[in-house]
Amino acid sequence: MKTRGGSCPRRERRSVKIFMAMGNSGAECFGRMNSGNAMTIQPARNISGAVRLPGDKSISHRYAMLAALAEGASRFENFSTGADCASTLRCLGASGCGVAQRDGVLEIAGRGKRLEVPPEALDCGNSGSTMRMLAGILAGQEFSCEMRGDESLSRRPMQRIITPLEQMGAGIDAQAGGLPPLRITGAGGSLRAIEYKMPVASAQVKSCLLFAGLLAKGETRIEEPARTRDHGELALRAFGAEVERRGAQVQIRGGQPLSPISATIPGDISSAAFFLCAAALFPDSNLVIENALLNPTRAALLDVLTALGARMSVLNMSEAHGEIVGTVQVKAGPLGGAVISGGQTAALIDELPVLAAIAPYTHKGIEIRDAGELRLKESDRIAAIAGNLRAMGARVEERPDGLTVAGEQHLHGAEIDSAGDHRIAMAFSIAALRAEGASVIHGADSARISYPEFFDVLERITER
Ligand code: S3P
Repeated sequence: MKTRGGSCPRRERRSVKIFMAMGNSGAECFGRMNSGNAMTIQPARNISGAVRLPGDKSISHRYAMLAALAEGASRFENFSTGADCASTLRCLGASGCGVAQRDGVLEIAGRGKRLEVPPEALDCGNSGSTMRMLAGILAGQEFSCEMRGDESLSRRPMQRIITPLEQMGAGIDAQAGGLPPLRITGAGGSLRAIEYKMPVASAQVKSCLLFAGLLAKGETRIEEPARTRDHGELALRAFGAEVERRGAQVQIRGGQPLSPISATIPGDISSAAFFLCAAALFPDSNLVIENALLNPTRAALLDVLTALGARMSVLNMSEAHGEIVGTVQVKAGPLGGAVISGGQTAALIDELPVLAAIAPYTHKGIEIRDAGELRLKESDRIAAIAGNLRAMGARVEERPDGLTVAGEQHLHGAEIDSAGDHRIAMAFSIAALRAEGASVIHGADSARISYPEFFDVLERITER
């Protein structure tokens, strides 16, 4: 049992071979992030066990924001534990909503559409969802306020929400190139509905405009170029608003009141993706995810893994507030290859890093096309995937809008640069399980953005 820089006392667990990489200060067992913020991942023999997931990040953001606009108190169980959703809660709290956690239940006291002027700039942290979707709500308020974020968020494009929100009558000042910080001057009661064709397939933009549309006069119509996750539409309906879909267009009438809800948030399928892909890599694997979100606009990974050759089954399906949840079981099978392109990339956008990271272990490799959006995430994910796969010894062809990773490649452990991006840190922790020798994931604590429990759960389901 080894850590970098020392050893740690034996613990009574089946597997204790994933450790924090230590600086010079001595050893510490896995589970506490050291100041070096790196994690050593040793190769694994198998993946097995059962996992219950914290609540889906996309649904948690939307439920929290709509709860803030409802008249009365909403209650949520299994709310996302990630730092991104904490950013949303912090912003809502600063805007006058009561936010309280009691015995695992999050309660949000809504303000019936009118927020309070925040005393200082709203800090969205690393969360693009917070900034983009909350901007839609701020566009309909009677005040002006600033939204800012960390270094990564400050590089992310906001023009995609600025253009339509300005058309609706809000005032938005941004930095050169449409970058944060943003100053949003709400149009209050004069916010007007628009008909808008989104140039990029983005569920964050769609929800931003639906939320603004709820506060506007008239009927807002939004057309998306490819089908994106529909949690905004489902959440609005759950809170009592009517939202209609006609083909590629969604419509909302402004001025509808929202009623509070009580909900248990389905487990985050994008977090499950890392474990599902890990299980697909080991011939004797058997992994059960107990409360997986199975919304068809989010579950494309299950189809891709099935098409690759993994043996997947889904049991115990149920539905609440329009969202489907169920138990997913995965066992490995010989993995072929896949080409992911067109509308599929939007449906799989958060799962592409882990799919690319396991591609060398498939027979025919994985090609990803039409995924230029990956360069605009928490990091340039195409560059981060290519760089880290190459560091592990893989051949990768990198293109402006995608990459091709050949199959049947033998990878070795390496120093992985997460670029401070949670999905890169977690994706390469999975690639490392099948490499020869240990890998060190730098910036591993970025996992807290969406899944703080990730390394603990990975340790629990990993056999060595
Ligand atoms: C999200 C949409 C996607 C996704 C992000 C969450 C959402 O972003 O990558 O993690 O909850 O709507 P885009 O809307 O920018 O594609």
